[in-house]
Amino acid sequence: MLKIIAATDYNSQSRKAAAVIAAEVTLNSKACLGLATGSSPIGLYKQLIAWHKQGDLDFSGITAANLDEYVGLDAAHEQSYKYFMKTNLFDSINIDQKNCYIPNGLAKDDEGKRYDDVIAALGGVDLQLLGLGLNGHIGFNEPDSCFAKGTHLVELTASTIEANARFFASRSDVPTQAYTMGIKTIMAAKKILLIANGDAKAQILYDALFGEITPNVPASILQLHPDVTVVADDCALKIIKEKGLL
Ligand code: GLP
Repeated sequence: MLKIIAATDYNSQSRKAAAVIAAEVTLNSKACLGLATGSSPIGLYKQLIAWHKQGDLDFSGITAANLDEYVGLDAAHEQSYKYFMKTNLFDSINIDQKNCYIPNGLAKDDEGKRYDDVIAALGGVDLQLLGLGLNGHIGFNEPDSCFAKGTHLVELTASTIEANARFFASRSDVPTQAYTMGIKTIMAAKKILLIANGDAKAQILYDALFGEITPNVPASILQLHPDVTVVADDCALKIIKEKGLL
């Protein structure tokens, strides 16, 4: 089932999406959260931190498994997703960082299988947070990804390297490969929370949620998941609203 929750702006969207994660953490103190990076979840993480500091959220029994990691960056690199998660969330809440997992960007062999085994040993992901790439990618599953893959190594597309260059000193510093949970791994999560904001995401959000289910738009596979909540701002929902679909 697909639920779409609209928000007026990024801050409101961040609070509403954080409320979905807060509900999971409150109802299941041992939940496994699948977490994401990128600019979209930063406000949501800030809200979770605020609620934790107020004493309303306890992460001590929570485990976390992140979607993806760049190949070639170690955990201390400021643009590694491991570093992102520490600085944007984990260092500011009471989660045990031994229980926070992410693919190892420096791994030489079979990192995909190792990571899927870790997720399986955790009992699977209860709630998977996803951002949406401009080309429809989720995690780093780029267009034409095989829907049947678990965690694996991917070559990043030029458009993703371009989109992520804003975080690096120069475009040539952006890694060209990443490990990502595959579509199969993502679809195995019990619940999915997709967030999107801004005009630039309006067309791809419409394509993902209401267009053809196709590997050309990896996020379109989410139409087949039994429990997806989308929290998006009015800018990202513009086309969906214009078409009277919300
Ligand atoms: C990145 C990440 C994704 C993220 C997406 C959107 O490349 N690998 O996990 O969801 O792109 O990023 P943003 O939220 O900055 O728009």
